[in-house]
Formats: sequence, structure tokens, C-alpha cells
Amino acid sequence: MNSLYANPVYYEIAFSYRDIPWEVEVMQKVISTYSHIPVKRVLEFGCGNSPHMEELLKLDYSYVGIDLSPEMLHYSQKKAERLGHQVELHRQNMVSFNLDEPVDFAYTMLGSLYVKNTEELISHFVSISKTLTPGGLYFLDWCVDFGWLADSKDSWTVRQDGITVEVHHSTRLINYIEQTFEENIELIIDDHGTPKRIKQTSIRRAIYPQEFLLIARQQGFEFIGWWNDWDLNSPLDGTEEIVTRPISLLRRR
Ligand SMILES: C[S@@+](CC[C@H](N)C(=O)[O-])C[C@H]1O[C@@H](n2cnc3c(N)ncnc32)[C@H](O)[C@@H]1O
Repeated sequence: MNSLYANPVYYEIAFSYRDIPWEVEVMQKVISTYSHIPVKRVLEFGCGNSPHMEELLKLDYSYVGIDLSPEMLHYSQKKAERLGHQVELHRQNMVSFNLDEPVDFAYTMLGSLYVKNTEELISHFVSISKTLTPGGLYFLDWCVDFGWLADSKDSWTVRQDGITVEVHHSTRLINYIEQTFEENIELIIDDHGTPKRIKQTSIRRAIYPQEFLLIARQQGFEFIGWWNDWDLNSPLDGTEEIVTRPISLLRRR
């Protein structure tokens, strides 16, 4: 079976349920409300197929993406060329990375803060604090776990241009002291009549709110807020029964 992150076309279909222009509007609102600096250069961690890139380029931002997958980076490069824009794409690990020039805004989408342990989580923040201009924001979509780590299952189907992708997402607790879990994403595909299966297994560390705040503060970030379901009118107060796609916001001091 192939790996999901080596198959950007099917990945893009599988996760195309998002309203990307609206999400970029929310990011714009966050920047205009909370950034202490003018924003020109934006950085995405685990950029993959760079779903938000086109909308960000339309708004005149320069786009920088970091990812480990050469196939994803190639796909994003071709997308930028089709759009007639130059972008910066780096094959680097978000755990520890280095850019020649600073960025004014950084973000991680769809829970893509891939760390295996506490040292890697701290290292991620150390690298960002060297890269993000003071006063700039770090925006995270679904990266903080507001529910206790539990075995979870979810599935959905997307049909697009003769391709049907059935997505099965599941998590399985590995160690509750190390807060590690296994994440499995399986795609069962019908590509114009040709069946295919793609799987991605990752070992990850859950990130809970208080440790997120502690590590971020220690690395020079201030906490701005967190909101339910990308809704800036729904700040989380910890009593919500259902938390979906929460966004969290930090600002570099
Ligand atoms: C769920 S996808 C997110 C893609 C895209 N940002 C989006 O919003 O759909 C996660 C991406 O993170 C990348 N990735 C995983 N671990 C990484 C790491 N340690 N450093 C950089 N990229 C990583 C994968 O190759 C993949 O492209």
C-alpha cells in the first residue's frame, strides 16, 4: 500500500471538505485584529498540497511552506507555477528547521503538528521563535487536544471528477504517560473504475492545553485565545460539550 503523503492528488480530494476562502478570511481577521506587525511573509508547517496558498497569494502575501514529503512539495510547486507565482518550499522537518529570512505569520492546519515526544514539541517552538518576527502570530488549527486522548474513529466519502475517495481516520492510544497515540488514515479509492488503497500511519504525541501554554510561554509566546470551529465569536471556556476544529492563537513577544 502507498503512503498518503506521497499521493497529493488523492490527499487533496480526501480533505477538500474545507471552505478554504472562508478559512483565509478568518486568518485575515485574526491578523488584522491581533498581529502587532504588518504581515507580508507567511509560513505553513506541514504544508502538503498547500490548500490555502492560492487565496493567500491573491491577498499579496508571500508564501513559504515546509514539508517532509517531496511529492507534496512538488505538487505545491506546480500549483504555484500554474498560478504564475513564485513561492518558497523547503524540505525540512517542522521539529527543527531553519529559514534564511524571518516570517511575519506562521500556521499549522488540520492537526498537522507532528511531534513524537515533549522534546520535539519544545524544539518546534524553539525553531519558530527564531523564525517568527516579534509581534507576529502563530495560528494553529486542531493541533491542541481539548478532549482526553481516546480511541477515535471517523469516516467520510468525497467524489470529484470521476474519482471516489472513502476516508477512514482512526486513533489508538499507545502510552498514556508519554501521551503517544497511533493515527491511521486509510483511503479506499475508485479512480475512474481502478481500485486503489492508500494508508498513512503516524506515531504522535497528544498536545493538551496547559502544556501547550506552558511550553509556548517558555519559548517567548503569549497566549491570545482559542475558539471553537473556526468561529471567532465562540471562544473556548472549557465547558463546551463538543469541540470541533478548534483554532488556537499565539503571538511572539
Ligand atoms: C495532514 S497533511 C496537511 C497538509 C495541508 N497543510 C492541509 O492543510 O491539508 C500533513 C502534512 O505534514 C507533513 N509532515 C508530517 N510530518 C512532518 C514533519 N515532521 N515536518 C514537516 N512536515 C511534516 C506531511 O508530509 C503532510 O504533507
